[in-house]
Amino acid sequence: MSRAFVVRETGGPDKMQLEEREVGAPGPGQIRVRNKAIGVNFVDVYQRDGHYKVDLPFVPGNEGAGEVVAAGEGVTEFKPGDRVGYTGPVGAYADERLLPAGRAFSLPEGIDFETAAAVMLKGGTAHYLLFETHAVKPAETILVHAAAGGVGSILAQWATALGVRVIGTAGSDEKVALARASGCDPAINYRTTDWVKAAREATGGRGVDVVYDGVGKATWDGSLDCLRPRGLMVSYGSASGYVTVPNLTVLATKGSLYVTRPTTGSYHASTAELRASMTATFEALLSGKFRVAINQRFPLAEAPEAHRALEARQTTGSSLLIP
Ligand SMILES: NC(=O)c1ccc[n+]([C@@H]2O[C@H](COP(=O)([O-])OP(=O)(O)OC[C@H]3O[C@@H](n4cnc5c(N)ncnc54)[C@H](OP(=O)(O)O)[C@@H]3O)[C@@H](O)[C@H]2O)c1
Repeated sequence: MSRAFVVRETGGPDKMQLEEREVGAPGPGQIRVRNKAIGVNFVDVYQRDGHYKVDLPFVPGNEGAGEVVAAGEGVTEFKPGDRVGYTGPVGAYADERLLPAGRAFSLPEGIDFETAAAVMLKGGTAHYLLFETHAVKPAETILVHAAAGGVGSILAQWATALGVRVIGTAGSDEKVALARASGCDPAINYRTTDWVKAAREATGGRGVDVVYDGVGKATWDGSLDCLRPRGLMVSYGSASGYVTVPNLTVLATKGSLYVTRPTTGSYHASTAELRASMTATFEALLSGKFRVAINQRFPLAEAPEAHRALEARQTTGSSLLIP
């Protein structure tokens, strides 16, 4: 028997109920993985509260790292005992789970289970945002919101290592200090400061080339005001609430702006895309382009607590569940 959280109806953190279940043998093309560490991500919240639709009932959680227990028919690349990581489909908040082998990848030497679970989805997102959504260049200035958070702290460090100037925002003085340590200059407390004015002043009034905004509703308008003419708004998340489709004229009056709303679902859609992004992310981590801060560890059974902390803005860096 294996423990797994199950969501039978969407809602608050308590809608995740820990249950015992038989995992069963992997079917064709599947592997069975014993999780050693599970990454907690904001997308887990959107799926649990029903904003992102997932067929009910479901086991939440979009990434984990552990050992292969069994490989199903047709799986030749993994065998029992292999160290793997995976992102998607849902089902990670469990001791053991089944998943398609194509969503898994081997963990390189030097990447332990906890580090993997802390970096795969968040670092893979930073990778596609910095290299594919927009290929950043050393002369550019970008604005990263929630720069002390999971994705934000990696994004800020990696961009800095690429020679990009990063302006960061964060929601407390402690978080501002972390954002500064991740390369943000300036790092701005956007709960106490006129951050639009501060960001514009930091660029001599020109505006930034790209805004990476995972905060959503609360920062949407201000983010557009921080951009230079023909700048790019990358709205990649909704931690504060969902952005509704804007009146497109706003993009004209604010300077012929570009907007995109990217997701890993489209950038890591194929096994090849996912594995290439993970290889690049692990290489960047191992070569010191960025560090990953595991600042919260919860026993698996405390997943609702982990969600409460994430939603209450009490976390920094990455959060893990440990089975
Ligand atoms: N599109 C994609 O492919 C993709 C992939 C992964 C993640 N994401 C998105 O990236 C964002 C960050 O994800 P994460 O897992 O790394 O989380 P996180 O950044 O560690 O946590 C979210 C942070 O957002 C900030 N925030 C601002 N207003 C908030 C509010 N009203 N409620 C809660 N948080 C608020 C908080 O930082 P402050 O206190 O500093 O404001 C909070 O710590 C999320 O929006 C997520 O959906 C998108």
